[in-house]
Formats: sequence, C-alpha cells, structure tokens
Amino acid sequence: MSFYTIEPATARLNRSELAVPGSQPQMFEKAAKSDVDVIFLDLEDAVAPDDKEQARKNIIEGLNDIDWGNKSMSIRINGLDTHYMYRDVVDIVEQAGERLDLIMIPKVGTASDVYAIDMLVTQIEDAKGYKKRIGFEHIIETALGMQNVHEIASASKRNESLHFGVADYAASTRARTTVIGGVNPDYSVLTDPADDGSRDVHWGDMWHYALARMVVAARANGLRPVDGPFGDFSDPDGYVAAAKRAAVLGCEGKWAIHPSQIALANEVMSPSAAEVEKANRILEAMAQAAAEGKGAVSLDGRLIDYASIRQAEVLVEKAKQIAGN
Ligand code: GLV
Ligand code: MG
Repeated sequence: MSFYTIEPATARLNRSELAVPGSQPQMFEKAAKSDVDVIFLDLEDAVAPDDKEQARKNIIEGLNDIDWGNKSMSIRINGLDTHYMYRDVVDIVEQAGERLDLIMIPKVGTASDVYAIDMLVTQIEDAKGYKKRIGFEHIIETALGMQNVHEIASASKRNESLHFGVADYAASTRARTTVIGGVNPDYSVLTDPADDGSRDVHWGDMWHYALARMVVAARANGLRPVDGPFGDFSDPDGYVAAAKRAAVLGCEGKWAIHPSQIALANEVMSPSAAEVEKANRILEAMAQAAAEGKGAVSLDGRLIDYASIRQAEVLVEKAKQIAGN
C-alpha cells in the first residue's frame, strides 16, 4: 500500500439513480414511492429553456413538500457555460437545501468548475446555517472532462461520485453511436477465416476505455463510479448487459431514465446471496489461516490470500448497507 491514504466519500447506496425532469412535477410522487436509491431532479437537458424557471419552482416545492423517504436527493443543475446555473444553485440551495443531499454537475470540464460551485454552495450553506454539507456528483461527459478526470475527482471534499454521461460523451468525442449507451456493430473484431473459410464477428464494447478510465479516477479518490443512461428502455436485456459490464469494471450503480430500469439496476448492482455467503466463508477461512500463522490458504480448490479478504470485506459491507436501507 502507498503511504497515501484514500479517504472514502460519504457512504451512500447508489445502485440506481433515477432521472426525473424538473418540468414534470406529476412524476415526482411516483418517483418518491419507487425503490430507487438516488433521484436527480433535472434542470438541464430534459428541460426546455422556456421551462427552466418553472422547473426550479417545481423542484423547490417538491423537495420541501414530498416525503422522499430515505432516498438520496439530487438536482442536476445547468452547465457552467449557461446563465441558468447560478440561479439553479442559489434558489434551490437557499429554499430547499435541507432536503438536498447532492448536486449533480453536468459537463464538468476542469477542477476550476468544481471549485466555482463549491464556493457558491459553501457561501449559501454558511449564510443559511445548514449543518449538513451537500455532496457533488460529476458527470464525465466531454472530452475535456475525461482529459481532466483525475483533477476533477480530487477537486473538492464534497465530491462523492463520477458518472459516465455516454450520450454527451459521444457527441463531444464524435463517437458513432446507434442508441444511447448501446454498442455499435462497427466496433467489432473479425476472426481469421476457419478451415471452411467462415469468419466470426465479435462485438466489442466501444465504451470500455472511457468507463474504465473514469472508474480508476473515481476509486483513486474514494468516489463512487456510476454508469450513465441506457436510452432504449424497451430493451431490458440490453440494459442489463450494459449494467453488468459496468459492474464488472467496478461501477456501483447505473442511471435509470425510466422507472422500469430501477429494479434492473438494483438487481445487477447488489451482491447475490451466493456471493455474500462465499465472501463470509473467505473471511472465516482467512481468519483461521491467520490464527495458524498462514497468509494464504485454499478454499474450494482456489487460492485465497489477503487480497481476497479486501474483496470479501467490500462485498459484505455492501450487503450490510443494502440490508440496512
Ligand atoms: C448524460 O447526461 C449523458 O449525456 O449521457
Ligand atoms: Mg449529458
């Protein structure tokens, strides 16, 4: 281990994160009753320019009046390049800051973007005398944001999570996409011809590099990596496949742009009973090994060592977090 200690961000269940447009207050109650872990009330891309002001009012009213249970509540503010952003922050944090857990910053490009919003939020929180500190979630969704992802991840003590915004990322990098968060058959490998001349096509995951890069930046700074949207909500299998790929790389959660995607995300992002059982057995076996002065032992015919303990502990901790929710 390095002498440098990574401080984990505020612990929060973030398996699923539902996007709800601030301009659609009739959707708020249903979202509040859902099984989602985090809700972000959107002021940015799901809200037309003429509706921005009303959306802010809806969000203030909704945050103050609706019982959101133990869900974590977030708002997605407009980008720093717009004139909407300062009012999003000032109005909502001033008037509904006590029920706000997180602010989601879209298209964040540099560490200074984070600094600017931190300064604004800090002033409002101090002026209002709020005890709780609002956390930040950053959407990495531009080439600039990806280039500076490490600096962004370490730019504020408020930082909690990084989100891969695949739709804007595709626009920014001019990637060729078919469906938001889906795969493109052109990103594939053609095998060499077999004896009979036949060749197979293996589809690749065009988002692998970006997502993996974001996961490293998040984890190196104690933050949660979260995968973004999957646009085709009539394709649950495609959604689950994307969520599994993200989970395999280390993501803790995935966005739901439709309520039907919440259960899918919760399922994929929760350890299964068999995994928890195995993790507990690893911890027991290692405790016994330690008592016998051994650093590595075999369990079910496979080697386990101290690295296995750390993995098992993460899994058991996650299961406890879910059970206590
Ligand atoms: C999310 O904001 C995205 O652009 O995918
Ligand atoms: Mg976006």
